[in-house]
Amino acid sequence: MWEDFEVALEKVASDRRKEKPDEGNLGFGVHFTDHMFLMKWDREHGWHDAKICPFDDFSLSPAAMVLHYGQAIFEGMKAYRGEDGQIYLFRPAENFERMNNSALRMCMPRIPVEKVVKSLKALLYLDREWIPKSEGSTLYIRPAMIGAEAALGLRPAGEYWFYIIMSPVGAYYKEGCNPTKIYVSDEHVRAVKGGVGNVKTAGNYAASLFTARLAEKAGCTQVLWLDGCEHKYVEEVGTSNIFFKIDDELVTPPLEGSILPGLTRDSVIKLAESRGVKVVERKIAIDEVLEAIEDGRLREAFGTGTAAVISPVGELFYRGKNYVIGDGRSGELSVELFTDLQAIQRGEKDDPFRWVV
Ligand code: COI
Repeated sequence: MWEDFEVALEKVASDRRKEKPDEGNLGFGVHFTDHMFLMKWDREHGWHDAKICPFDDFSLSPAAMVLHYGQAIFEGMKAYRGEDGQIYLFRPAENFERMNNSALRMCMPRIPVEKVVKSLKALLYLDREWIPKSEGSTLYIRPAMIGAEAALGLRPAGEYWFYIIMSPVGAYYKEGCNPTKIYVSDEHVRAVKGGVGNVKTAGNYAASLFTARLAEKAGCTQVLWLDGCEHKYVEEVGTSNIFFKIDDELVTPPLEGSILPGLTRDSVIKLAESRGVKVVERKIAIDEVLEAIEDGRLREAFGTGTAAVISPVGELFYRGKNYVIGDGRSGELSVELFTDLQAIQRGEKDDPFRWVV
């Protein structure tokens, strides 16, 4: 079926092109480019009706299964415009492969990765003027898949829509690159082994909102999640993976089924190792983290994710007490890794890992 996969092109009329937002004030995910990619799936035709078309509202039945049973998965990636004017994508095929893992877990169809990457490149070229040029801004790309069949029996949907929308964005956190204060939750959990914490499905994010609100009330930016069984081991921070520099080692929790395997996480591990930093993927208890803070051995902590990139953690709030990490400012290693990663992503630095296309 995928052999005759063709992508139709419906360009937005020139008088319906949107005005580009002010690059100094982009926010995150509030402006959308002129075009989107859309394709549909059913059992008879597989993926079909692929098109690049004007960004517009969908018409979806109120009975669409995604609206009731949550068959929804998504990805996040970014496009950069280098100083040479070229458009760069960071590990796009691996992002779509991860989406296929999410699809498998959620009983949804696989997408044809190569063809989707090609379509994304065509979409990007068409909307290239939307890639912001100012420092700290990028074009965020949001691929998503939903169960579109109108039916109320609980089973995997028989029809799916896959689409890609794009949004010029500034920093994800209002703190920008400055350290965030993080709320450690020992009441609610994000995921358990055997659940869906290791795939990027919408329900994981919906389930995090209540605790995120508690964090906000405590003056924190995000939640640090502990494991779902013992409420003891650190798992993830908000929408990101977490790293701790303890003495001279960089420690991050292992991927054992309840943590999302972040591509930024993987890139940071490889970049840090290439700088001679010892990276250890191991379980780390919150008590060990707090002790290391109090002993002055925890030099820095940071989260990694596509949206947040590398986001330093300055302070933890746990059971009513504040723990300041180092001097509360961005750690040296996180700044160096951020600078390196951004330079690779923007085509300004050699890319020995062949991540950029
Ligand atoms: C990303 O980092 O791309 C994410 O998917 C997080 C999202 C909740 C903004």
